[in-house]
Amino acid sequence: MDIVVLVSGRGSNLKAICEAYKTEKIKGKVKLVISNRKEAGGLSVAQEYGIPAEFHDPKAFSSREDYDRHLVERIRQENPDIVVLAGYMRILSDYFIDSFEGRLVNIHPSLIPAFKGIKAQKQAVDFGVRFSGCTVHFVTKELDSGPIIVQAVVPVNPDDDEKTLSDRILQYEHRIYPQALKWISEGRVKVSGRNVEVEGARYGELPVNPALEDF
Ligand code: GAR
Repeated sequence: MDIVVLVSGRGSNLKAICEAYKTEKIKGKVKLVISNRKEAGGLSVAQEYGIPAEFHDPKAFSSREDYDRHLVERIRQENPDIVVLAGYMRILSDYFIDSFEGRLVNIHPSLIPAFKGIKAQKQAVDFGVRFSGCTVHFVTKELDSGPIIVQAVVPVNPDDDEKTLSDRILQYEHRIYPQALKWISEGRVKVSGRNVEVEGARYGELPVNPALEDF
């Protein structure tokens, strides 16, 4: 399964995904990494793995849709099976989402539908929930709301701040994202409306549902 990955920041999820490809847990290639921020650490991560890494400047375009049309054209040149958002912190236009419908996935650092949008971990701490977590989901036009592939739950403790909770959640992000991509690559992910089934997966266990198999 060939993928193109979009990043805006540090790139730790990208690194976990690259490692899964490198060790051939996932078969195929990360063909290209694109960032909307020049200084994104994710671009250096891509280079470490010998993957082409490109900064595309949103400021060079007059609207969100123009930028996204440009990105879609560039991504299509790579002919990926899936487009992967890994800490891509830019709202996507409907044009972009339509272009890769059913083939666009995201990770979000909360148990959606709770705490959508930015600073999800801070939202969880501020709200005082006892559990939060992370979600890999298909992308639809409603922000952070598409069909859920897998979620991991982590406790939130009274002494947590945004940083400590983010770190605890991130450990699971690095496991559930490569796992979800592997399931997709194996053709086991079936979507029916909002509901997703991973064929042959184990359900009903904590803290990751469906249970991790490879990560
Ligand atoms: C991750 O925590 C990811 O879940 C989050 O950004 C971080 C990126 O870290 N994404 C979102 O909040 C998307 N709404 P990384 O660059 O180290 O992978």
